[in-house]
Amino acid sequence: MRMRHKPYARPELAAWPRYVPQPDDLRGQWASFFDDPTKPLRVELGCGKGGFLAQLALRNTGYNYLGVDIKSEMLVVAKRTIERLYANAGQQPGNIAITSRNIEQIEQTLATTDRVHRVYINFCNPWYKTGYAKHRLTHPRQLFQVRQFLPEGGEVWFKTDDTPLFEDSLRYFAHAGFEVTWLSRDLHRGEPAWNIRTEHENMFAAEGVPIKACIAGVRPAQLERAAIFRLKNI
Ligand SMILES: C[S@@+](CC[C@H](N)C(=O)[O-])C[C@H]1O[C@@H](n2cnc3c(N)ncnc32)[C@H](O)[C@@H]1O
Repeated sequence: MRMRHKPYARPELAAWPRYVPQPDDLRGQWASFFDDPTKPLRVELGCGKGGFLAQLALRNTGYNYLGVDIKSEMLVVAKRTIERLYANAGQQPGNIAITSRNIEQIEQTLATTDRVHRVYINFCNPWYKTGYAKHRLTHPRQLFQVRQFLPEGGEVWFKTDDTPLFEDSLRYFAHAGFEVTWLSRDLHRGEPAWNIRTEHENMFAAEGVPIKACIAGVRPAQLERAAIFRLKNI
């Protein structure tokens, strides 16, 4: 998504205590950043304008939340959204953090000791051009990094409007050692109560585009060894 340059974005973010300017410095110690360090961590990759993250964090207060995006112009909108929704709910955003990071190097930001139990990827760029698929946030290149910090039992929750990206991603998950445990090719038909619509989801829903979604869990170690054995012996 193209967004106009906002000269105020970086200074406004830098002055906000819930914004983390040097995320790699907290690798392995994210718990210390939150009001309650005992809560497990949920991470949204490509959080954009932050509506999903803020609503999720307010609805499920038993977790800490980290939103990652590469663009300050997006993150400053996320900051204002979080402030507004938390103020409306009469809460302090002590269970939420946002940071600017290129997700293609996310393993430098998170470690297994951060106790991430769920990763959300919502409406990532489909990267259609030949040779660019490796930049997709669900490409095995990125999923192998996610597996570096996501323990067995951890899950990736993925949503998209894009059919080719979705079908490719189902293969990517299997290839990267995840098992798809739930999927829908029309999420809004009998929409689950847990679903929180993102900004892009609302846009595509208004255009009548069916939303595709899946949940993929890290495959247990013994099943993963068996899958690798089968691959090697084909
Ligand atoms: C299409 S928007 C979707 C935003 C939001 N998740 C939603 O569903 O409304 C994709 C977001 O991912 C971010 N993004 C794309 N590639 C990224 C990368 N390599 N690292 C960090 N953020 C990235 C973009 O800046 C943008 O905010």
